[in-house]
Amino acid sequence: MELTKKKLFNEHGDRDWGKRRMIGGNTTNLIELNNVKYEWATKLYRTMMNNFWIPEEIPLAQDAKGYRELNEHERQSYDKIISFLIFLDSLQTANLPNINEYITAPEVNLCLTVQTFQEAVHSQSYSYILDSVCAAEVRDRIYNEWRDDKHLLTRNRFITDLYERFVENPSPDNLVRTVMANYILEGLYFYSGFSFFYALGRQGKMLGTVSEIKYIQRDELTHLALFQGIFREIWRENPELFTDAFVEELREMMRTAVEHEIAWGQYITANRIAGLSNELIDQYIKYLSNERLKKLGLTVLYPEIVEHPMRWVESFSNMNGMKTDFFEQKVTNYSKSSNLNWDEL
Ligand SMILES: [Fe+2]
Ligand SMILES: [Fe+2]
Repeated sequence: MELTKKKLFNEHGDRDWGKRRMIGGNTTNLIELNNVKYEWATKLYRTMMNNFWIPEEIPLAQDAKGYRELNEHERQSYDKIISFLIFLDSLQTANLPNINEYITAPEVNLCLTVQTFQEAVHSQSYSYILDSVCAAEVRDRIYNEWRDDKHLLTRNRFITDLYERFVENPSPDNLVRTVMANYILEGLYFYSGFSFFYALGRQGKMLGTVSEIKYIQRDELTHLALFQGIFREIWRENPELFTDAFVEELREMMRTAVEHEIAWGQYITANRIAGLSNELIDQYIKYLSNERLKKLGLTVLYPEIVEHPMRWVESFSNMNGMKTDFFEQKVTNYSKSSNLNWDEL
């Protein structure tokens, strides 16, 4: 299969949704929401639009005081985690259009465009947090953290290199690898950081920042669902790409990501944050990776971990009744979207 960048406008394209494909399709590139193949994508688009929020509407004055009252370990973790989140959301904002150029389903292009916009809002929220919470020199240090922190630089470089591999060589295999990398980023790389903020929130600390993070996570859950959908449709439409060796490579990508995320989470918290021990981080990230792999139809890496080790985290992330899994939600916070079931597609 050849992968070519789609044309801005293709007058020889097919309008027939039956001929539509996630990648390698012959799209006109016109957007017709009443003529879609991937119904889940239009529903997801509406959920994403309905999640619109403005970072500055959350007051952070209390957090400015709270930041000064954090102990040294908490403040250092806070700074380093924000620094990594700034990187992740900036990278997503910049890279998603690279993927979108090869997706030949307009309803999915729309979702990726909204996602790009939401990643920009997340970046805006970090700027607002840093403006509100700390002094200008601390803010500059947080933006520059990767220059001095080798762990952070190594992580940032590793993720960027995965994405650049596709940009430099846009083969079908590399597209699947980059979709997997996005799925891992959305579903795993944010989570040590999120759980740190929720651990603070549980103690009544930095509640404004915790609210910002909850809104961000609500968006990230839809991004995770989007990449789950893209991955599964590509597999369904192009089974020849998914050889046993390739599937194993994708699982190994997840294993590497788990190891990086655990090492990072343990490095930033240093076993000194109440409610977030090294052991819990290890179990939590492995547990999450199992959940993520199952959703892609892949065999889990850590079958010994079946119980969520930090159930309290879910009370923070399940905001407004939004279920953590878009495709399994029974009660929805969006009145017009209906239940989705992959088996019906
Ligand atoms: Fe984001
Ligand atoms: Fe995201």
